[in-house]
Amino acid sequence: MAEVLSNVQVAPGVFRLAVKGHDGGRMGQFYMLRAWDRYPLLSRPISIFDISRDVIEFLYIVAGEGTEMFSRLETGDPISLEGPFGNGFEKPTGKTAFIGGGIGIAPFYYALREIKNADVYLGFSRDSYMVDEFRKATTGNVYVDIGGIILNSVDFNAYDTIYTCGPHPMLHAVQRKQIESGSKAKIYVSLENRMACGIGACLVCSVKCKDGRKKACADGPVFLAEEVVF
Ligand code: FES
Repeated sequence: MAEVLSNVQVAPGVFRLAVKGHDGGRMGQFYMLRAWDRYPLLSRPISIFDISRDVIEFLYIVAGEGTEMFSRLETGDPISLEGPFGNGFEKPTGKTAFIGGGIGIAPFYYALREIKNADVYLGFSRDSYMVDEFRKATTGNVYVDIGGIILNSVDFNAYDTIYTCGPHPMLHAVQRKQIESGSKAKIYVSLENRMACGIGACLVCSVKCKDGRKKACADGPVFLAEEVVF
């Protein structure tokens, strides 16, 4: 059991959770979090937002019963962390961009600890959050779009490596933009699929890929954009 240090609302329904004690993790990996005994049955997969010394942070949006229970956690409460799981981001080559939609911005903050000069594109449907933190974390440019389509701001030919995370329609659009632009960049999508076990045993997180079905938790959550069938 780990201990909640803080659980702060940063926008309506969006919380930044700091927990003491963790087993490390690479950029793009996730933990399975649980703050209850038996019900709801499943733990919730949440991306690593940041790690410093013995503190790990998560950014999550209240989207159901489990995350609603997380939102009621207070300093000193116990929480169970299992992980880190999944394949994180590979090291980029050349000029790099991160494109995040909504809560999909979360894994890029920790990634900027290693890749400090990436351009960052943050798209929000209504309320923005963590923008100042991203501006401080990168020496590259930060672009913000609220209520529009963040992908319209991105020149896909200006980068060698592009990482994206957000809702499936956005990731599908990334795949289309890659084809339309003829971009030679290596483009990765990080999938936020529903998960149950988190370790490749249950198939709940199945992803259709060009060479068959894969598991978001164990084979991903990061995939090359071109290999996923949306
Ligand atoms: Fe069980 Fe991925 S969550 S196989």
